[in-house]
Amino acid sequence: CFHVFKGLIKWINLVFLYNTILQGNVEIMTHFFLPSGLLWGVGSSAYQTEGAWDKDGKGPSIWDAFTHKKGKVFRSETGDSARNGYYKVKDDIQLLKELKANHYLLSISWPRIMPTGIKTEQVNEKGIQFYNDTINSLLENNIIPIVSLYHWDLPQVLQETYGGWQNISTMNYFNDYANLCFEKFGDRVKHWITFSDPWAVDVKGYDTGEHAPGLKPGECSAYKAAHHIIKAHAKVWHSYNDTWHSEQQGMVGISLTRSWGEPIDPHSQTDKAAAERYIRFHLGWFANPIYKGDYPEVMKNYVGKKSAQQGLGTSRLPTFSVQEKTYIKGILDFLGIPILLFPFLQVPSYNTDYDLAELVDPKWPAPGPKWLYSVPWGFRRLLNFIKTQYGNPLIYVTENGVNQILGMTNIGNKFNRIISILFTALNDGVNVKGYTAWSLLDKFEWNEGFSERFGFYHIDFKTKNEPRHPKASADYYKKIISANGFPNPREVDNWYREAMDSCSTTHQHLATGNCAFCSVLEKHII
Ligand SMILES: *[C@@H]1O[C@H](CO)[C@@H](O)[C@H](O)[C@H]1NC(C)=O
Ligand SMILES: *[C@@H]1O[C@H](CO)[C@@H](O)[C@H](O)[C@H]1NC(C)=O
Ligand SMILES: *[C@@H]1O[C@H](CO)[C@@H](O)[C@H](O)[C@H]1NC(C)=O
Repeated sequence: CFHVFKGLIKWINLVFLYNTILQGNVEIMTHFFLPSGLLWGVGSSAYQTEGAWDKDGKGPSIWDAFTHKKGKVFRSETGDSARNGYYKVKDDIQLLKELKANHYLLSISWPRIMPTGIKTEQVNEKGIQFYNDTINSLLENNIIPIVSLYHWDLPQVLQETYGGWQNISTMNYFNDYANLCFEKFGDRVKHWITFSDPWAVDVKGYDTGEHAPGLKPGECSAYKAAHHIIKAHAKVWHSYNDTWHSEQQGMVGISLTRSWGEPIDPHSQTDKAAAERYIRFHLGWFANPIYKGDYPEVMKNYVGKKSAQQGLGTSRLPTFSVQEKTYIKGILDFLGIPILLFPFLQVPSYNTDYDLAELVDPKWPAPGPKWLYSVPWGFRRLLNFIKTQYGNPLIYVTENGVNQILGMTNIGNKFNRIISILFTALNDGVNVKGYTAWSLLDKFEWNEGFSERFGFYHIDFKTKNEPRHPKASADYYKKIISANGFPNPREVDNWYREAMDSCSTTHQHLATGNCAFCSVLEKHII
């Protein structure tokens, strides 16, 4: 797909796994404590966990429509019942409590509370009741809810009838929905995320077509969808600031992409420029408008140049008016940085606009799913980049996780490394206030269906009532949270051993094959 190979970079998805690539790059500390007040938590999203896709008045979302088409998702699996989270809120909150999590990142399904997406058409009281009860149960258990308003499940009616994020009027419907959420839940919810990973929404939904609504270049433009999403974020932030902030005193943030690039040859100017371009096309696409009022210069130049070469009169990258620049600039109370990546495809259009090749360093071991490469020091650099480029904003690390096969081979290492990096970044002066591991339960993984398991709790979905069983990582994470860090190497070793023991105990209670997490773990004792 690449016509021009000017300047190479390594692409690095910031998922933390491997020791091999860490040599010399990062210090893993054996004992330290994190500042008190750091939020430790777990996250998940509505479509991946709730199920009950057509129950109690919920309208269909683009993910319902997408997964109901054969062949869109691995084994054509759907989130129709997902993990039945809709029926198991109380049980699942007990698991959070067991983990000692002090916050929980959840998302509200827009079509569950507005079936068509349009407030003036219909508001579903049962949906409001569901989230209201969830929020109340969390608070009763001393767990702070962090609520994302958009984790990808746009109401299908808006997509079908009006073109979804291709149409600027979706911004107004989204603003009505957000205001209803502030009105109903804002007395108790103080952390709001407008969009979870808009990069994935745009590129995978409107460019590669891997995600709902499954559109391809030519049918639409990812740049246009992104443009409307940025404006929608701004509008919602302003609504909150103007109408709700003085009374509710909460914060409104956004959760952005996490990809990081490194020059293959650090002495080559073109490689260095390519790596920088990569970061500007990912993080900068959204962070620059929000922090600085406009798209990165390099993005405007490259997309403009490519559009001209394609014989287009104007750039495919839309422009902000002077008023819009003022309106969107500086409107963020905190930044969420997710650290988990979904499959990365190299296809034309958006992905070819920035003229570079993305390589995986051959020295990195092939981990199973081809997309999970882990580079903790990349995470540190990303956090430092955000600090210097965007004025040291408040950061919550969201969606950090690895799936079962990878995670379990390396459970001890995984957390030690992630959390060491977090500590180092804090020492660098990065303003990190929270850390959210992904995720509480095994769940529906978008176009990967149920084939990948990210949960701290294994779900035995062949058994009635889908019992949840803690994996070794649950026990281990709980101990890190309780200690707010790592007291000393010996104790951490003990935690690790105990975590594995408790996992093996669970293993005995399950039919063979239902507890792969233990056998995988046992095979790879470090
Ligand atoms: C939501 O919960 C709060 C706190 O318990 C309560 O005051 C409010 O009436 C509830 N709203 C709905 C719609 O149930
Ligand atoms: C955008 O949505 C509005 C309704 O909100 C509709 O009237 C208009 O036709 C839509 N535009 C396109 C291009 O679909
Ligand atoms: C936010 O609201 C406050 C109080 O209403 C106002 O003074 C301030 O100008 C608003 N900020 C922005 C960026 O609009």
